[in-house]
Amino acid sequence: MSATFRRGRTRWRPGKAGAWLSALSLLLLCCSAQVNDTADPLPPEERDRLRWPDPLEHAPRGEAQRERLCARDGDDPLRDLFCAQEPPSITGIAELQDALGFPEYVIGGFYGMALTGHSTAAAPRSVSALNPRAIVFQLEQLRAVPPMELLAVGFVRGEQTVEFVVRDRVDSELRFYLLKYRQACNDDGDGCGPADLLTPQTEQGWTEFALYGEQDLQNTVVDCLSCHQPDGPGTPKFLRMQELKTPWTHWLFTGTEGGRLLFDDYRAAHGDEDFAGRSGDQVARSHPGGLELVAVYSNFAGAQPNEFDGAAIEAEVALSRQAAVEGERPDDWVMQLSATWRLAYERARRGEAIPAPYPELRVTDPDKLAAMGAAYAAYRAGELLPEDLPDIRDVFPDDPWQRAAMGFGGEPGLPAQELLVQACAQCHNSRLDPKLSRAGFNVELDVLSRAQKDAAIERLRLPGSDIRAMPPVHVRVLDVEQRAVLIELLQQ
Ligand code: HEC
Ligand code: HEC
Repeated sequence: MSATFRRGRTRWRPGKAGAWLSALSLLLLCCSAQVNDTADPLPPEERDRLRWPDPLEHAPRGEAQRERLCARDGDDPLRDLFCAQEPPSITGIAELQDALGFPEYVIGGFYGMALTGHSTAAAPRSVSALNPRAIVFQLEQLRAVPPMELLAVGFVRGEQTVEFVVRDRVDSELRFYLLKYRQACNDDGDGCGPADLLTPQTEQGWTEFALYGEQDLQNTVVDCLSCHQPDGPGTPKFLRMQELKTPWTHWLFTGTEGGRLLFDDYRAAHGDEDFAGRSGDQVARSHPGGLELVAVYSNFAGAQPNEFDGAAIEAEVALSRQAAVEGERPDDWVMQLSATWRLAYERARRGEAIPAPYPELRVTDPDKLAAMGAAYAAYRAGELLPEDLPDIRDVFPDDPWQRAAMGFGGEPGLPAQELLVQACAQCHNSRLDPKLSRAGFNVELDVLSRAQKDAAIERLRLPGSDIRAMPPVHVRVLDVEQRAVLIELLQQ
């Protein structure tokens, strides 16, 4: 859902930092190709690029959206701020956190920050240890005097959005909100590039913003409720944390061995830079246990479907790695690392849960991580021009099995009906509110008319840059062959 990237601006020019340049150049060459939006048949890279349409492009903005939102009933801390007589003028993430009342310093226990290097939430292809997802939160303690209200704020660089969850004071229900902001680059002819979106630049200098409620997002690809109320209207809403308990495998944390390795990956690029509106010192003290406590205090700890059993999975992965003989790995080795993980993955593949987190610690390809991390460090040191910063989200391995295991590829060789479920069931199932146009497609194909199946075929043929392309490319990418398999199924 990030803004459109400048075309052809990721071209590599020799900079001052020559030492790592040669290692990088091969890798970066791949990213400099010009993309032709109307090409047919679609080359795979057309689908796979890290540039996707803004799902809120046609949504109301500015005062029109504020009026729409504030005209609804509701009483919660976000409405206190944004629906006040004098609407706040907020131009950055730190200012936003201050306006919401987060203290400047993280006070152990009650307020905090957690950082994850892998996400199965709304923007899975943006998140790695190099571009982590930050959640800044405040514990809910309704019996405290004065009561402390639930507040959690999610932020990933590149998306130009901020996610929130709060609790309504009248009906005690969770309320999800999304703030969408714009920067000056959105309105210049070239659009926004990696240096605008993936550096401290995107955390400040906002030119405008609009706040959307969960109702406004329901028929978009960033529908909060598809994951936070997955059984559909009238069923419980809940906070999510799939890796709820220690060792919190994919979270950056100085208290676990894995967490320290992920921090090392992060620091090699970011040093002690301010991140997600917090100081380098606060970043260093990130603690996933704080988010676990938010879930516990708000009574959602028991609500986690298909929880990722990190302790068992890490132990099984370690054993498998010991047993593996170098050079003799089958193609689908990642699927065989852990039996516990495999069960969780298959539940998700059958459409019973959202994607399970990846079984291994790192979701990054080592060469790509090194190259992108070095480019970011060079940019920070002033050795790389902003227009030469590559898209540092491009760190995932190319192996299709690994990408399927990360939740954003299609599993190779899967029978057509099962592939359809893996790729579409999260957003198109029988639990959906039938009033949404999205309910016009369902992975249970026997309920569909010929015309509805034809509409799905059309969507599968669209280039990833088209907002109507299915599946949406920032969530899952199918290769040409996999799309052909689904098209054939839908033609029957
Ligand atoms: C594809 C599933 C998915 C969608 C869609 C989604 N979330 Fe989440 N959300 C998650 C998961 C999983 C987590 C746990 C942290 C993580 O993995 O990043 C989470 C965590 C959060 C958190 C931190 C508090 C918590 O529950 O742990 C907030 C706040 C949040 N989401 C808000 C939103 C909002 C607002 C939207 C809609 C704009 C949204 N989410 C859409 C899956 C999703
Ligand atoms: C992340 C959520 C998401 C995933 C995954 C997804 N879709 Fe969608 N789909 C949507 C949303 C939101 C809409 C409504 C907006 C629109 O029409 O583009 C939609 C609309 C559609 C429509 C139009 C329905 C109508 O009658 O108007 C079709 C057809 C469709 N999707 C097919 C698919 C297929 C096929 C897949 C899997 C290969 C898929 N979608 C995967 C979110 C998703």
